[in-house]
Amino acid sequence: MNKIVVAIDGPAGAGKSTIARIIANRLQILYIDTGAMYRAVTLELLNKNISIEDIDKIEEILKHIKIDIMDDKVFLNNKDVTHEIRQQVINRTVSSVSAIPQVRKKLVDLQREFARNRSVVMDGRDIGTNVLKDADVKVFLTASADERSVRRYKEILLKGLDANLGEIKNEILARDELDSTRALNPLKKAHDAAVVDTTGKDIEMVVEEILKIIKPKL
Ligand code: CDP
Ligand code: CDP
Repeated sequence: MNKIVVAIDGPAGAGKSTIARIIANRLQILYIDTGAMYRAVTLELLNKNISIEDIDKIEEILKHIKIDIMDDKVFLNNKDVTHEIRQQVINRTVSSVSAIPQVRKKLVDLQREFARNRSVVMDGRDIGTNVLKDADVKVFLTASADERSVRRYKEILLKGLDANLGEIKNEILARDELDSTRALNPLKKAHDAAVVDTTGKDIEMVVEEILKIIKPKL
């Protein structure tokens, strides 16, 4: 198989990580969840009680931070934080942290390093427009805000936790707004990305639709 680089971007709850993980698995190539990396930096700042205004301290943290992604697990300074980074408190803070230029530079460098000279499926907000501009396949995955909110709601209920659909929708919309309007590399469809609207489609349908776009490039 040729080397293949697939970039998947889109708003929260569109199904990026679910779909990207399955596609990487089917093609037997690496999957990188860049959102998890922004979440890990957010967790580190919260753990160390560092304000997002304190750029000096953030720069200091970024000099030493170690983020690894291995076998679907995320490690922050060698500690498995796969579950911790999905907390509500991270959902509420991550978009402000990801708008900080120093944070983006550090993580984008790392993402390009992870993808260097290998086949990869990478998902996020700025993969097709910035991180992997030369990707062979670019997909912009979307779904209605209502459907994205219900998906997240069901996920929380399945974990046996309490959830409020209205609050989830507000959090998702607030995050989409911040992510789409930030100055540096906002969430945006790349001009050469295929739009895949997943509203009303199950996971397998979406996987098949994207594999059809990828297959001719293999
Ligand atoms: O899974 P979900 O769509 O809720 O979010 P995520 O992919 O884990 O991303 C969390 C946050 O990280 C996003 O809301 C963005 O603020 C930020 N992010 C980013 O700025 N650029 C990326 N390439 C990926 C994520
Ligand atoms: O990564 P992103 O925030 O874009 O979304 P995700 O975490 O992959 O997907 C959010 C939820 O929607 C998951 O529970 C998926 O199983 C579900 N999903 C779905 O129900 N139908 C799809 N076509 C895609 C995802």
